[in-house]
Order: sequence, then C-alpha cells, then structure tokens
Amino acid sequence: MTNRYAVILAAGQGTRMKSKLYKVLHPVCGKPMVEHVVDQISILNINQIVTIVGHGSELVKSHLDGKSAFALQEEQLGTAHAVIQAESVLGQLLGTTLVVCGDTPLIKAETMEALLQHHEKSEAKATILTAHSEDPTGYGRVIRNQDGLVERIVEHKDASEEERNVQEINTGTYCFDNKALFEALHRVSNDNAQGEYYLPDVIEILQKDGEVVSAYQTSDFEETLGVNDRVALAKAEQTMKRRINELHMRNGVSLIDPNNTYIGSDVKIGRDTIIYPGSVISGDTEIGEDVTIGPNSEIHNCKVGNTTTIKQSVAHDSSIGENVQIGPFAHIRPQSEIHDEVKIGNFVEIKKSTFGKGSKASHLSYIGDAEVGSNVNLGCGSITVNYDGKKKYLTKIEDDVFVGCNSNLVAPVSIGKGAYIAAGSTITEDVPGEALSIARARQVNKENYVAKLNEKK
Ligand code: UD1
Ligand code: CA
Repeated sequence: MTNRYAVILAAGQGTRMKSKLYKVLHPVCGKPMVEHVVDQISILNINQIVTIVGHGSELVKSHLDGKSAFALQEEQLGTAHAVIQAESVLGQLLGTTLVVCGDTPLIKAETMEALLQHHEKSEAKATILTAHSEDPTGYGRVIRNQDGLVERIVEHKDASEEERNVQEINTGTYCFDNKALFEALHRVSNDNAQGEYYLPDVIEILQKDGEVVSAYQTSDFEETLGVNDRVALAKAEQTMKRRINELHMRNGVSLIDPNNTYIGSDVKIGRDTIIYPGSVISGDTEIGEDVTIGPNSEIHNCKVGNTTTIKQSVAHDSSIGENVQIGPFAHIRPQSEIHDEVKIGNFVEIKKSTFGKGSKASHLSYIGDAEVGSNVNLGCGSITVNYDGKKKYLTKIEDDVFVGCNSNLVAPVSIGKGAYIAAGSTITEDVPGEALSIARARQVNKENYVAKLNEKK
C-alpha cells in the first residue's frame, strides 16, 4: 500500500474572526475546529500527521498534543508557504500527502478516504476535493478546460467576472504525490492580489508540466464549509450539532427537541436516555442508560449513572451514581462524588463533597468540603460552615446521621454514626455516634407578658 501523510494548515491568525482567539481554536460543539480536522484524519490510515502552526502555536500544540507532529511557519506568507514548512519532516518521503485546512471542521474521514482512493486510482500527481456551491463567494474557483479537465484554481480576489460565475469551488482539501508537491511548491510565486504564496497554484504548475491533475467532487458542500468569520462559525455549529444529535438519536437516545439540545463532540450517552430541551451537555461527559436530563440542565465533564434524573440543574466535573435524583435547581460543583440513590433537591449546592448511598439533602442546603456517609438525612437548610474567610475546613458526617432543619455544622467537625442533630443547632464540636446533640438557646415562654407590655405603652 502507498504510504500516506497529512498536512494540516493551522498557522493563520484569522483576521476575519475579529477575535483574540486564533481562528483554528474557535470551538465547534465544544471542540476546536482544528482538533475536529485532526481527529477525522486520525481515523484514516496515515503514517504521519504534521500540523503547521504559527499564530498561537503553543496553544494549538497543547490542544493537539500527542495527535500530530508540528512544523512552525514563522511568517504567514500563504498556504503554499505553509506546506513548505513540512518539508524537513516529509520532503524526502515517497507516497501520497493529504493537505487539509484547519478551518474546515466539518470535513469527514469517509470523504477524505474517498478522495485518497480516487487520487491513488487515477495515478494523479494532484487531486483537489471540489464542491458545488450556490454562493461561492470567497472560495477559490476550479477552472476547467473545454475537455472538462482541471487547469487551475483562481482565488476569488484574483478572479475575473466570468471566473467568479463558476460555482465549483476548491474546498481546501487536496491529495498530492509527495515528491511532486514539494518540488512544485518551490516554483509558486506570490504575484497575485494578496501577495501570498497560494497552495492551489501547485495545480496549474503540475498541469503545465503535463502531469495528471484530477478533481473529486463531493456532493455535500455543507461538509466542506471553510470558517473565515463568525457567520460561518455559527453555520458550522448548526451542522455539527445536527450531526451529533442525529447520531445519538440513531443510537437510541431520545431528544425531545434536537434543535434546542446541545451535546459536545465527545459526549457519550446510553440508550433510552431522554433529554429535554435547553440542555447543554459538554466536555468529557459520559451518561448512562435510562437517564432523564433537563429541561434546562448543564452538565460538563461528568459521569452519570443509569436511571438518574437531573432536572433544571447544573453539574460540573463530578461523578453521579445510579438512580440519583437531582434538582430542580441544584448545583453540583467540581470534585463531588454522588453515590447511588442519593437525592439532591431544590436549591441545594454541593461542592467538593462525597455523598454516600441513599443520602438526602432535599431542600435549601450548602454542603462544601464534606464527607457524607450513607443514609444520611440533611434537613432543609442544613449548612456546612466550611470557610473562616481564610481557609476551608472539612466536615465529616458518618452513616445514618440525621441533621435537623436549619443546622450549621461549623467545620472542622465530625458527626458520629447514627447521631441526631436537633433542628436549629449550631454545631461547633464533634458529636459522638448515636448521640442527640442540641446546640441552640433554650426557649422561654413568658405567660401573659404581652398584656404587661401593652400596659407600659
Ligand atoms: C483557501 C484557498 C481557497 C479555498 C479555501 C477553502 C488558498 C490560497 N486559498 O482560501 O482556494 O477555496 O481555502 O476553504 O489556499 N494558513 C496558514 N498559513 C498561511 C495562510 C493560511 O497556515 O500563511 C492556514 C489558515 O490558518 C487556514 C488555512 O490555511 O486554516 C486556509 O487559509 P485561509 O486564509 O482561511 O484561506 P482562504 O482564503 O479561506
Ligand atoms: Ca478559510
């Protein structure tokens, strides 16, 4: 089999994005554009992937760490100049080189595979992936001769009126014979409207040399969308969102309103899970089977067990067990570990705490820096007082503890197994297991006192 290499162009600033963030790092469904491209290429059988970095190179490299090798383009003199930077890594090799722009996040592995196969079968020196576009503005146009063979690509800014009417566009994805590519790249000039070294000029150079230059047209223009501004970014987001949501639905997940459900690229969801509108599920999240999420829930970097329900709530960087009830209006903050059959009710905030099996905080609580055992009942308004303005302290609550309503547990403090805290207590000292602790002022009733008060007036 032919050796295959890939070059991804990701050095540009992306002026048209008008952003502090480098273009290829703008996320689409939560993942940087260039990472979508690299991940799709990684599915293919490629010997070596080289990403050309420039603007924001350190940040781009850290996102793609372990997925690609890198070559630095110090000055952005054009796409041909960008590819030349890979010469020290790839220049001497024999095989096919796939070149893809880092700003085409919707490109699919299967389309690139079809392009590679078409290229290898036709024994061409270069094959361009083209598409038909109703509005080709901004794209390079594919110029063919009378016989329908590709002659060259003309950039929008360099095109004549007649050339601008051409609706077949260069998608920015190509296959080249590796040796022919690097040889031709050195002959590209920057004598054009933008004063840049254009990669598409390689096509004309090879064609004039009498080499076979081919085109492979994909039927799906949408997939080849190049993101140059925020309008295109929103289009990419829409398309990617639809693709992700359809995949989950086909895998057995019910989305009540797919147009209003936002699921990140790498999220995993089990069968028979139902997601209600307004839910945003992102990052490294894995959701089990028969789970109910939403409406209006935000879940980021969480593991959620089977048959759990998360209604109108927010959960980040935490693990949530099976058959857990969360919400409405609960907030699970990072590093929380919620075990099976727990109930976290309305207006409860949990931070960096573990909750043992079957424990409950049903209403209006703040539980932070706590280790809560199993079968614990935290009454309405239970608060861990974990912060003295300088440091955070731990609260330990052992199994089977009952904390009465409106209790403050002033940390550091431990409540022993099976202890009972009277409602309204402010607990400042450890409570032994099985004890009843009452830490509140005793009630005094002054009989008939109201009449006396009125007399005084
Ligand atoms: C490019 C193509 C155009 C094609 C379109 C498809 C050229 C000259 N034009 O135009 O024919 O229709 O893509 O989307 O290639 N980059 C670098 N270094 C540079 C310049 C660019 O790495 O010096 C990278 C950018 O980061 C970007 C990619 O190359 O990811 C494409 O560059 P961009 O400026 O967006 O090219 P287009 O004008 O879209
Ligand atoms: Ca572009």
